[in-house]
Amino acid sequence: VIRLLFLIPVYIIASEPNTRQKFLHKIRCRQDTIYTRNSKGDFMQYTWNDIKQHVSACTHCPLSQTRHLPVMGRGDHQAELMLIAEAPGNQEDQQGLPFVGRSGEILDKLLQDCGLTREEIYITNIVKCHPPGNRDPKEEEKKACFPYLKYETFLLKPRIIVCLGRVAAQRIISPDFKITRQHGTWTYRKDCSLTATYHPSAILRDPSKYELVKGDFDEAVKKLKQNTK
Ligand code: URA
Repeated sequence: VIRLLFLIPVYIIASEPNTRQKFLHKIRCRQDTIYTRNSKGDFMQYTWNDIKQHVSACTHCPLSQTRHLPVMGRGDHQAELMLIAEAPGNQEDQQGLPFVGRSGEILDKLLQDCGLTREEIYITNIVKCHPPGNRDPKEEEKKACFPYLKYETFLLKPRIIVCLGRVAAQRIISPDFKITRQHGTWTYRKDCSLTATYHPSAILRDPSKYELVKGDFDEAVKKLKQNTK
């Protein structure tokens, strides 16, 4: 009887995808499929490829009518560091890839100066389609796009998230986050350390911000290497 009682949780974990997922999440085991319920309550499962396909065909908000190409996140699916920015710019909209314009050049320099490359991290945006005229994404656009970011984060299970700019910081860390005062401060949530710094485009406007952003990136890399939270 004692042996049987011992086997019940094992049976539940092994047979019920949702429970198995929560258990694996707790022990930080990466999975290549996530299980979730959609807005109608149906049970759904997603792989990286599924998410990419949903993003490329997405019509959940008006940005889908003005975009050229949707921009799925990109990078190492095993990365421990996830960068989350705001929305694709013009160049990104043309190429369907994140950070390929001038902000991307700055980002590459920042990563290089911290001893990292794009191939070692994962980078994505709050909204996957370019807002016309580079305006801030609207609340309903961020809301419509949020499931994609949620699934990317569930699959990646990053140890560290760095938000790039106010829009990402306010959506991910706290609605009243102030980059000027709070950049480089850390929050710990669900087994993940989160911080925010200026968006690379802020460095394009004011190159003196480079060292400040580099300092925030250095801290993130230090955490990554030290294996601390
Ligand atoms: N700016 C962003 O916020 N995201 C990109 O992908 C490119 C520029």
